[in-house]
Amino acid sequence: METVERQIRNGVFISIEGPEGAGKSTHLNRLKDALATEGYDVILTREPGGTTISDSIRALLLDAGNDNMTSLTELLLYAAARAQHMQEVIIPSLQAGRVVLCDRFTDSTIAYQGYGRGLDIQLIKHLNDLATGAVYPHLTIILDLDPALGLERVNRFRHGGQDSKDRLEREDISFHQRIRKGFLRLAAKEPARYRIIDASRSIENVFASLFATVTDYLRHGRQQS
Ligand SMILES: Nc1ncnc2c1ncn2[C@@H]1O[C@H](COP(=O)(O)OP(=O)(O)OP(=O)(O)O)[C@@H](O)[C@H]1O
Ligand SMILES: [Mg+2]
Repeated sequence: METVERQIRNGVFISIEGPEGAGKSTHLNRLKDALATEGYDVILTREPGGTTISDSIRALLLDAGNDNMTSLTELLLYAAARAQHMQEVIIPSLQAGRVVLCDRFTDSTIAYQGYGRGLDIQLIKHLNDLATGAVYPHLTIILDLDPALGLERVNRFRHGGQDSKDRLEREDISFHQRIRKGFLRLAAKEPARYRIIDASRSIENVFASLFATVTDYLRHGRQQS
């Protein structure tokens, strides 16, 4: 009988990361359809979220009314949402040999709670290991752009100019700049896992790069790793 680890390796786990408004959700919806058309068995999920319990935790995390939430509470809530998501969705999907596309994952926790909030990065990594059971993406795409541009997109398009920002979007610009730097540092430390895509370009151009990167990985990358 195959070990659980071997079965997990049948699937392909791809996460997409980047600052607010980089286009992660926009592109993942399209990517999911495009990969399905190519014949891949693909599932799209997101963090925090992906299960009923994790979505309840997401609501707590994003609620602008929770402005007194401590950084540690925030970190533990992300870990709790992730533990449930792994067991309920990600691991079973990988065992079934599917391509799992995840909108944000552990790198967001390191970038936001570590580089953004200043919590100890080693502690965050331990918690990530605990929550994931040390199952990490094979490939992580970083949609990189100046956070000022991303926040402007979110304001203009998603909120229609109305002031309905969530708890994290309300942070000042230096917080978001630290997060961008955090993602780029993570990518620099482990280049084999990461691909950085310039997300300041048009939706069409960004998607073309993303699709080429992911399909190239699915066709060739897995054999090399
Ligand atoms: N390359 C682009 N050019 C112009 N507008 C874009 C581009 N990419 C995304 N947008 C628009 O910016 C807004 C934010 O995009 P999206 O919600 O996909 O970002 P996100 O990375 O998922 O953000 P968040 O981290 O807040 O979830 C959307 O209204 C989307 O249509
Ligand atoms: Mg999104």
